Amino acid sequence: MYIGFIGLGKLGMDAAEVMATKHKVSGYDIVPRTSDSVCVVPTIKDVVEGNDIVFIAVPTPHSKEYDGSIPSAHLDPKDFDYTIVKECITEANKYMTKDQLLVLISTVLPGTTRREFVPLINNTRFIYNPYLIAMGSVKWDMVNPEMLMIGTEDGSTTGDAKLLTDFYETIMENNPRTVVGTWDECECIKVFYNTFISAKIGLVNMIQDVAEKQGNINVDIVTDALAKSTMRIMGPKYMTAGMGDAGGCHPRDNIALRYMAQSLDLGYDLFDSIMGAREIQAENIAKRLVKEASSRGMSIVIHGKAFKPEVEYCVGSYSTLIGYYVKKRGYSVKYIDPIADDKTDVISEIHGPSVILWAHNRRITYDYTGQSANTKPYCDIPPGSVIIDPWRTLESTTDIEVIHYGNTRQR
Ligand SMILES: NC(=O)c1ccc[n+]([C@@H]2O[C@H](COP(=O)([O-])OP(=O)(O)OC[C@H]3O[C@@H](n4cnc5c(N)ncnc54)[C@H](O)[C@@H]3O)[C@@H](O)[C@H]2O)c1
Repeated sequence: MYIGFIGLGKLGMDAAEVMATKHKVSGYDIVPRTSDSVCVVPTIKDVVEGNDIVFIAVPTPHSKEYDGSIPSAHLDPKDFDYTIVKECITEANKYMTKDQLLVLISTVLPGTTRREFVPLINNTRFIYNPYLIAMGSVKWDMVNPEMLMIGTEDGSTTGDAKLLTDFYETIMENNPRTVVGTWDECECIKVFYNTFISAKIGLVNMIQDVAEKQGNINVDIVTDALAKSTMRIMGPKYMTAGMGDAGGCHPRDNIALRYMAQSLDLGYDLFDSIMGAREIQAENIAKRLVKEASSRGMSIVIHGKAFKPEVEYCVGSYSTLIGYYVKKRGYSVKYIDPIADDKTDVISEIHGPSVILWAHNRRITYDYTGQSANTKPYCDIPPGSVIIDPWRTLESTTDIEVIHYGNTRQR
């Protein structure tokens, strides 16, 4: 098929390149982009004309202070900003016809498509099709999704929904289940999927806090038991306590959902609690770092600044949220991360024994993709250092003491 792609960013470029393995794909972005397999064109008119399906994956941003890398639970709830999506839809609609299909991928709150976007479209057909994709594994996630979400006006499964399902069948590796719903239902599935993950991580990290405060508890014994309780609870993913939920999507989705809770007058705001707990859990880790550093006269280093291993993005990083609370207590903090896109306070070597938070654990982050190699140290760890390991996978050596944060059993 002939495919057009508007927005070749973190999600869009990889998605377009995956499609280009089987189809002819052209792409457009306001920022110049290059690709070996996607033909980059200079205007929306060019990316639309002659193509069967046109996908849109442009940003639905929040202001920077809402990304979750510093405290945000106290800020006024705000919706995403839909200006860019509306501009792209309006421009694409000018040149498209009823023989073509326009597909929006960008994340939006429930009700947005019907209220904001559909009134702008009169020349072409439209589907809302959000993705469940994580940074660092975009191409793998793209062809191995948990499900495909295809939103139509009335949830009908024929016509355009069938066309899109047939298209995805040509590129998928895992034969995913397909959920066809109304636009509004698919908007819900996407954002509530993310908030379920935030809540799940908030719960297991609460058990980590209980272990730290109560004593005689290894959080892994508790979470492993719960993770295997598939009769009533659920599966094992996101059931290892450690760092908090992070990145460009989940924290800000919860913030937008706070706005939704308010505007729908739900009468309660679970999302506020999830975000508030996420911040206090970060503050608890920061307090522990400060306690170890002050009692030993050492400085504090966080190993891993990006929001997860092997990506450069510091957006929504839990490391910097912990760093924020360390600084609030009057201590300085440095980060070790050779690829972080925000170099503030990043150092390349650790000079002298330090208290080091082992923020990145590659195996735990990417295990589900079948990649099980662990994080290698990003630099030499000076003898005499103390590592606080919130994943509890490192072992002490004669030179380096490892503290398993969340395991307070007497060993
Ligand atoms: N990144 C993910 O893993 C992920 C996963 C699921 C959903 N999403 C959603 O997908 C959307 C895009 O996310 P992203 O992470 O790729 O964002 P991004 O900021 O990395 O990429 C967006 C791209 O759109 C381009 N752009 C901005 N304005 C434009 C315009 N007027 N015309 C054409 N291109 C324009 C930008 O230059 C950028 O390359 C967001 O709504 C996000 O919530 C992202």
